[in-house]
Amino acid sequence: MSDSASVAACTILVIMGVSGSGKSTIGGALAAQLGWRYTEGDDFHPPANVAKMRAGKPLDDADRQPWLAAIARWMDARVQSRRPGVIGCSALKRAYRDLLRADRQQVWFLYLRVSRETLQQRVTTRHHAYMPASLLDSQLATLEEPGRDEPRCITLDADAGVAAIVEAALHALAAHGILPRSEEPR
Ligand SMILES: Nc1ncnc2c1ncn2[C@@H]1O[C@H](COP(=O)(O)OP(=O)(O)OP(=O)(O)O)[C@@H](O)[C@H]1O
Ligand SMILES: [Mg+2]
Repeated sequence: MSDSASVAACTILVIMGVSGSGKSTIGGALAAQLGWRYTEGDDFHPPANVAKMRAGKPLDDADRQPWLAAIARWMDARVQSRRPGVIGCSALKRAYRDLLRADRQQVWFLYLRVSRETLQQRVTTRHHAYMPASLLDSQLATLEEPGRDEPRCITLDADAGVAAIVEAALHALAAHGILPRSEEPR
């Protein structure tokens, strides 16, 4: 296995951004392109969090701790068994990303940066199990965009179409040397 292939063998991509930014859509499409598995970060919420979100109440930091800890355990299991993965996880605050990143060199964040107008349009025209459009404001208020000093973060213009975003993601990953040659975009 080449150096880049061995790195990619256990790379974990965290697709992050507010609700409606396209984490599930882009994460799924990107994973399909890579032949990797896409995992929904929302599935790691304990039942109490799901109930709160269904009721339209924003989660607080204490609520998010068991969720992030569960995702971190999932990441460690993937890395330990040397299986790459793509996970959608809002990771809105730096503290959440720090917790997920810790000293995990395999973890990269792909931030889907999207305008408020686009978000508004997307969340009002879809049905989501537990993310009513009313939570958009709280999501945007909570969001701390990845800082320039944050390691292993890539920002993508997520106002673009799905194919363009996936292509930009593949180019960025290749540019950072974290895709084996066969998975680099042509
Ligand atoms: N690049 C895009 N162009 C057009 N529509 C998009 C794009 N990305 C996502 N969408 C649409 O926007 C809506 C929200 O996308 P998606 O469910 O993937 O967001 P999300 O970040 O996973 O949200 P949540 O955090 O609530 O799960 C969906 O209806 C999806 O089809
Ligand atoms: Mg989603």
